[in-house]
Amino acid sequence: MGEAVFMPGTGNGLDILEAEILKSRYLREGEEDWEDVCERVAKAIASTPEEYVEFLNLMVSKIFVPSSPTIMNAGTVSGQLSACFVIPVEDSIEEIFDSLKTAALIQKTGGGTGFNFSNIRPDGSPSVSGVGTASGPVALIRLFNEATEIVKQFGRRRGANMGILDISHDDVNPFIRAKREEGKLSNFNISVMVPDSFMRLVEQGNMDEIWNAKTGAKVGEIFSEIVEGIWRNGEPGILFYDRINRDNFTPALGDISATNPCGEEPLLPFESCNLGSINLSLIVEDGKVNWDSLRETAGKAVRFLDNEIDINVYPVPEIEEATGKTRKIGLGIMGFHDMLLKLGLPYDSTEALGLAEKIMEQVTYSAVRMSRKLAAEKGTFPEYENSIWELPIRNATLTAIAPTGTISILAGCSAGIEPVFSWVYRRARITGNEFMLVHPLFEAHFKPKLPESSYDRLLEHIYTRGTLQDITDPEIVDEEEKKLFRSALDIDWKTHIDIQAAFQRHCHAGISKTINMPQKARKDDIGKALVYAWMQGLKGLTIYRTESRQRVVLSLKSPV
Ligand code: CDP
Repeated sequence: MGEAVFMPGTGNGLDILEAEILKSRYLREGEEDWEDVCERVAKAIASTPEEYVEFLNLMVSKIFVPSSPTIMNAGTVSGQLSACFVIPVEDSIEEIFDSLKTAALIQKTGGGTGFNFSNIRPDGSPSVSGVGTASGPVALIRLFNEATEIVKQFGRRRGANMGILDISHDDVNPFIRAKREEGKLSNFNISVMVPDSFMRLVEQGNMDEIWNAKTGAKVGEIFSEIVEGIWRNGEPGILFYDRINRDNFTPALGDISATNPCGEEPLLPFESCNLGSINLSLIVEDGKVNWDSLRETAGKAVRFLDNEIDINVYPVPEIEEATGKTRKIGLGIMGFHDMLLKLGLPYDSTEALGLAEKIMEQVTYSAVRMSRKLAAEKGTFPEYENSIWELPIRNATLTAIAPTGTISILAGCSAGIEPVFSWVYRRARITGNEFMLVHPLFEAHFKPKLPESSYDRLLEHIYTRGTLQDITDPEIVDEEEKKLFRSALDIDWKTHIDIQAAFQRHCHAGISKTINMPQKARKDDIGKALVYAWMQGLKGLTIYRTESRQRVVLSLKSPV
């Protein structure tokens, strides 16, 4: 991989990236630009001319962008619009291969699949026929991983999976270790489903208590395996079962035991969910949050996402049925860090925490209002009577915060609720070359302020060191600027968790976020973070210790 070269004066690189993404993923035959894409999508989703204009404006302005499957497939022969699915896996050959087929059909259309493998009997137990022995959940995940590898060749984007195992399963330790070797199960994220009873034992330090009487595994042994895995390469993730099920709006339909690949949508078996995100960066006007604009956008977005449920082309009838019963949608936000930068607020500040909570409160409040209005117009979701909602509403759950990995690039804003990873980094082009990306709000702040040569030196500094916190010349970066321009690795893990918790307080479903830790973080820090996250009411979390994995999507001076 050749060294990237700085090209001062050639822009911040965002335009190159956006053009590549449009071309490789979203443009369909006869389409040339984003407006063309928006016209196709708005036309497919609107049910009246007024809605068409409304949806077109939302998308063209990029104040609201639906998730990738919707942009790729709306108005095409595929017609599959959802990003998130949960598929049950039962313990027989027929059912296993049925699940595998359903997953393949979903992934072909750009959707992601989550599975809880806990119904699969442990490795080495007798098979149903009595001949031979079962191979256990880990072997099955390998099979599903291989299937995704094959399906990749058919789709426009790499399929993603979430593999979940309950912490009470006999095979939980081999499961936790399943991704320890670099490159193993690369199409899967894995997560352990943990109940409050386990976390309580950890919190109280009862590490010697036997957790699984059959295997004899102690609380401390399993917890250490999890911590070790995270410390080594960021896996497994954790999902908090009781917290997730406290927000189960339709408990009569069963417990929730799985999520989609990035964790933002806990779903019942065979449910799917379509996502879309409000670009918070565009909600700031003249240095202030335009709350009316936020509320109005959230309402329109709910109408957009709710319409999708009725025109969606579902991969199998079971998914159509389960999704139709609850009509869940996932309205989220992106560009949170950009919003803070525009308001002059550091990511790690009390103001940012307060704002996070208020934003999500307003988004969810407006979403609920619109869903009630739609219920009056078109009816409630069919299982409304079986839900915990007390007033008629059209969607069992409305809000979730997705990673927005691709759509945030398209919208030109920071991803989801993540802090900016670095103000400067390099990115591989689809053609194989590389180019530099400079964060536009960083550029807008520093470029006019500094002489050209100092600005270029500042870029190089950040590119090599990953931070501007160690710059000593106040003429280049002063103390205020250091506070404002802290990026993901300058922010401590507690703040990462606090921000996630603030958003979670008013979010129906879940949140996708990475809790970054510095390379020097100790295993003890990871253990503490898991307990803290549980106590703060997160539904799950992913921790990533810098440079613990060789191949990472965003990197500073490492190959991408
Ligand atoms: O930005 P974009 O709409 O492309 O997607 P995202 O917000 O990064 O991811 C949203 C969801 O899409 C994930 O949680 C997965 O369920 C699914 N996904 C997938 O199946 N395959 C991918 N390569 C990326 C996302």
